[in-house]
Amino acid sequence: MNPQKFQSFSIKIWEILGAVSIRTKIFGIVLGSTLLLSIGFALQTRLALQEVLEQKSQEQGISIAQDLASSSTDLILVNDLYALHQLLEEVENSFSDVRYAFVLDPEGYVLAHTFGEGFPIELLDINPLTKDEHHSLLALETNEGIVWDVAESIFDGRAGTARVGISSQSMQETLAKLTTQLGLTVLGVLGVSLLAATLLTWILTRPILELVDATLTVGGGDFSVRVQRWANDEIGDLAEAFNQMTMELGRIDEIRAEREKLRRQLIEGMITAQEDERRRIARELHDSTSQSLTSLKVGLRALETICDRPETHHHVVNLRHVLNQTLEEVREMAIQLRPAALDDLGLTAALERYLANWQTQHDINVDCVIHTADSRLPEYVETAVYRIVQESLTNVARHAEATSVSVLVERRTNDVITVIEDDGKGFDESKAKSGSRLGLLGMRERTELLGGKLTIESTPQKGTSLFFRIPIGTNDRVKA
Ligand SMILES: Nc1ncnc2c1ncn2[C@@H]1O[C@H](COP(=O)(O)OP(=O)(O)OP(=O)(O)O)[C@@H](O)[C@H]1O
Ligand SMILES: [Mg+2]
Repeated sequence: MNPQKFQSFSIKIWEILGAVSIRTKIFGIVLGSTLLLSIGFALQTRLALQEVLEQKSQEQGISIAQDLASSSTDLILVNDLYALHQLLEEVENSFSDVRYAFVLDPEGYVLAHTFGEGFPIELLDINPLTKDEHHSLLALETNEGIVWDVAESIFDGRAGTARVGISSQSMQETLAKLTTQLGLTVLGVLGVSLLAATLLTWILTRPILELVDATLTVGGGDFSVRVQRWANDEIGDLAEAFNQMTMELGRIDEIRAEREKLRRQLIEGMITAQEDERRRIARELHDSTSQSLTSLKVGLRALETICDRPETHHHVVNLRHVLNQTLEEVREMAIQLRPAALDDLGLTAALERYLANWQTQHDINVDCVIHTADSRLPEYVETAVYRIVQESLTNVARHAEATSVSVLVERRTNDVITVIEDDGKGFDESKAKSGSRLGLLGMRERTELLGGKLTIESTPQKGTSLFFRIPIGTNDRVKA
C-alpha cells in the first residue's frame, strides 16, 4: 500500500472509530483487549499442553516397549512362544493406550502378536530399526487418530525387535477436556471483564457526559448550570474549571443584560423625548405661528382693500402671496413633525393623508390597504407604525428607484402587521449596514423595543419587502 492510500485508509478508519461514542470506545477497548489476551493465552496453553501430552505419550510408549523387550529376551532365547504370547496379552491388557504389541525375530519373522487371527503384514515394512538404533518412533494415521508405533531392539537386536502401538486417543480426550476448561475460564474472564468494563466506562464517562450536557445548556444561554466534582483527578479539575467558567460567564451575562437594559431605556427615553418634542413644536407651529401668520394675512387683506396707490397695492398683494406660501410650508412642516391627525383621528386617517401626499410629491404609485378594525390602537403602536411607514417610504424615495409601492397595515388579534413592498432595485442587507446609516437600524430597534420583529427581504433588481410585526397590549414600555 503506498503512503497516500495508507493515509486515506487511516483517515477513513478514524472517521468510523471517531464517530463512535466514548462509552462504546472504552467498552470496546477493554472488552476487545481482554478477549484477545484470553484467547491468545488459551491457545498458547493448549499448544503447550498438546506438546507435553504428546511427549508423555511417546515416553510411555518407549518405556512399555523397553519393558517388553527386556521381559521377552529370555523367552525368545528359550523359544517359549506361548509365554511370549502371554506376555504380549498382559502388556495389552495392562495399558489402555496399547493397541497392539508384537515381537519379531532377528530375521524379521513374527514370533508372537496380539492381533488374533489376522496380522497386518504392512506393519512389517514400516518403522525398521537400523543397526545402531535402540528404538524408533513412527506416527501412524488411523481411524481413531494418531497411533505411535514404537520399535525396541531386544538384546541389542540379536534376539529381535519388540513393537508396540500406543494410541493418542486418551491424550486427545484429556486435551479436549482441558480445552473445554480453558474455554470456560475464558468465558469467566470475559464475564468479569464485561462487568469491569461497564463499571470503568460508567466511572470514566459519567462526569464527561455530565459536562457535555452542561456545555450544551451553557451554549443555550443558561449559565446557572453547575457540574459535580466526582473525583480528585483531571476530570475533577475539569469540572471545577467548568464551574468557574460558567460562574464568570453568568457574571458577565448579568453585566451585559444590565447594560442592554440601560441601552434600551436610553433609546426608549430618546424616542419618547423626540416624539414629545416633535409634538410640542408641531403644536407650536400650528397653534401659535400659523395663527400669527393667519392674523397677518387677514391684516394684509384689509390693507389691500384700503390701499389706493397702485404700487403699494401691488406690494401688499405680493406680500400676501409670500405669506400664503409660508403658511403652507409651516403647515407642511407641522404635519411632517407630528400630524395632528395621528393624535386626533388615528393611524388610518394620518397614514392615508400622508401616503396621498407622498404619492403626489414623488410621483410613485402607492397602493395602500389599512385594516385597523375601525378602532384606535394604543398610542405608542400608532406612533411606531406611522414612523416606520414614514422611514420606509423615505428610503423608497431615496434609494429604490421604484415605480410603485404597496403599504399594508393589518390589525390582528394580538399584533399589528405592517408590510411595505416596492418594485425598486433592491439591496444587499449585509452590505447596507454601516455606522452612518440609521434608518433600518432605528426601525429594527423601535420594533424590537416593542417586543416585535422586523424581517427584510430584498432581491437586487426585483424590489424590497419590509415585514414588521408589533404586538399590541403586551408592552407598556414605549409610549411615545
Ligand atoms: N427600499 C430600498 N430599496 C433599495 N435600497 C434600500 C431600500 N431601503 C434601504 N436601502 C439601502 O439600505 C441602505 C441603508 O438604509 P438606511 O435607511 O439604514 O440608511 P440611509 O437611508 O442610507 O441613511 P439614513 O440614516 O438617513 O436613513 C441604504 O443606503 C440603501 O442602500
Ligand atoms: Mg434611510
